[in-house]
Amino acid sequence: MSTLATVNRDAHIHYLHPNRLPWREAVDDEERDFLSRALVGAQGQEAKAVAYLYKELSQLAELEMHVSAVLVRVLCELQGEPAAPYGEGSELYHALSCFAAEEINHANTFYRYVRELSGRDIKLTDNLFKERIGLFAKDDSPMVKLAALCATAYVGESLITVFERRIKMLDPEQRFFFTKLLHYHGLDEARHIQSDHFVFDHIIPNLSSSERIRMHELIDATEALNTELAIRSAAQIKTAFGTDYSSDNHSAAVQLKLATAFRRIVQSGDLVVKVDNGLDPETAAEIADFSGLQRVHN
Ligand SMILES: [Fe+2]
Ligand SMILES: [Fe+2]
Repeated sequence: MSTLATVNRDAHIHYLHPNRLPWREAVDDEERDFLSRALVGAQGQEAKAVAYLYKELSQLAELEMHVSAVLVRVLCELQGEPAAPYGEGSELYHALSCFAAEEINHANTFYRYVRELSGRDIKLTDNLFKERIGLFAKDDSPMVKLAALCATAYVGESLITVFERRIKMLDPEQRFFFTKLLHYHGLDEARHIQSDHFVFDHIIPNLSSSERIRMHELIDATEALNTELAIRSAAQIKTAFGTDYSSDNHSAAVQLKLATAFRRIVQSGDLVVKVDNGLDPETAAEIADFSGLQRVHN
């Protein structure tokens, strides 16, 4: 329990609240030029960079809203399971509450950012929320739901950690709004990763083998719906912006490779495997080249 308490000890000091960002700086020519070079990998590709960010960050917001909603559900269900591991007292409740509150603020921030940046207001109307939340409305124990949720959130959290480091490598003084945004997001993300690792190290090993099978089924089903969400969002945004943002786009290519690798690693064992414990040398080299990171997580 002291591990969980330590994770969130300074959460009120190091956190992202959308109001703390200098929103007036979000859009100007210099910023858009930075996005073109840092994301697409070439100058003069501002429109492609903006469409790419719109797709990825609005989709991420949809995933974060789902994480938040499932965490609240788990919290409510845990009230009926006082004997659940780590259920005693306030630490688990506090950790999951912070996690849920931070994710809904991220979703709010990312949706606002892409609207400011593009001057458009495109909602991912076909977001499959009913189906995605429905997976977690069944009779599984809250600990199984928590384990499956953290395992799927962890893939995206690991990916954005690599992207945050890339952008900071290119803008070490954090002159650009986008770098500040990822920096503040990363303050919360570091705690989410530690909370995920806590669940992997302490909660999943306490699940029965049938619960672990069920956990993997839930992960598979969530990933399948997330993939479908990605396909639908891509189609919607490509049509809305009239551009195929993913062609000749360095970040989009790296993102696809890393997402596939991370997903495979996480599900490569009976438990859940941390990304740094399953990286093959080729993927590790790609991450180092893209972001300067020798390990994804400390
Ligand atoms: Fe987030
Ligand atoms: Fe997160």
